[in-house]
Amino acid sequence: MRLVKTIKEVREIVKEWKKQGLTVGYVPTMGYLHEGHKSLIEKSVSQNDRTVVSVFVNPTQFGPTEDLASYPRDIERDKALVESAGADLVFNPEPVEMYGSHFTTTVNTTEVSELLCGARRPVHFGGVCLVLTKFFNIVTPDRAYFGQKDAQQLAVVRRFVKDLNFDIEIVPCPIVREADGLAKSSRNTYLSKEERQAAVILSKSLKLGLEAVKNGERSSAKVIDIITKSLETEKLARIDYVEVVDNENIQRTDVIKGEVLVAIAVYIGKTRLIDNFIYKVED
Ligand code: PAJ
Repeated sequence: MRLVKTIKEVREIVKEWKKQGLTVGYVPTMGYLHEGHKSLIEKSVSQNDRTVVSVFVNPTQFGPTEDLASYPRDIERDKALVESAGADLVFNPEPVEMYGSHFTTTVNTTEVSELLCGARRPVHFGGVCLVLTKFFNIVTPDRAYFGQKDAQQLAVVRRFVKDLNFDIEIVPCPIVREADGLAKSSRNTYLSKEERQAAVILSKSLKLGLEAVKNGERSSAKVIDIITKSLETEKLARIDYVEVVDNENIQRTDVIKGEVLVAIAVYIGKTRLIDNFIYKVED
């Protein structure tokens, strides 16, 4: 397995693979990798001849008051995890390699990035679309892998790949959780011991919402109420949002029908965590 820092090296390696007729899978990450990222890499390895993983804390997707500087980084550990998952190449560029000193192009979606995290983090999805446009053009993969953990990101990516005609198959991957249900996240490292225990309230509350839906509840307001009341039992939790939206356009729906995304964002102390479930009504 190789680690490279320049766009030129990635292009040369991928060109050689393509000359040999090999398929290429790609897993974009911001590093500080865990079992969630690993599941994406393993899926790519199982479906492609070669797998590229990028590790890049992308400055353009962080707002001015967000955690860009303190975002956890450990490239040596990441390299070992990528290698153990069977990938072939890690691309770990410096910000200047990706953006130079003067960058003026933007890429963005509307509608699908309007609500949920998009409403709270105005520059976020524009930054995600921009950096992925660049990585897709550099890596030119056949398939790219994204976690359901970031459900709105997945919807945004599906939309911009379709709208901009990228010839890349977007492969969704299920949420990987800790034993007690907490969705794995690089940001979980910010939690104190007490906060870590409190954080289980996210998955617990979603589970109650899911049970209600499975038992036939079709009112979004009622499901939101069940989840909200459960979250409110935890003193350290502060709700950012609890929403029910359609899973394609990420627009609110009063009635649970078709494929819905039930998504929450909750502060545990100063750390903002997200989680969700998807439910498909079969009728
Ligand atoms: P990052 O937060 O590092 O996540 C990289 C990928 O791993 C995303 O597709 C995310 O959904 C997935 N992932 C994270 N935790 C997961 C879990 N518990 N289970 C399953 N998948 C999980 O998302 C980003 O980076 C960035 O926005 C990026 C797409 C790399 C663009 O900069």
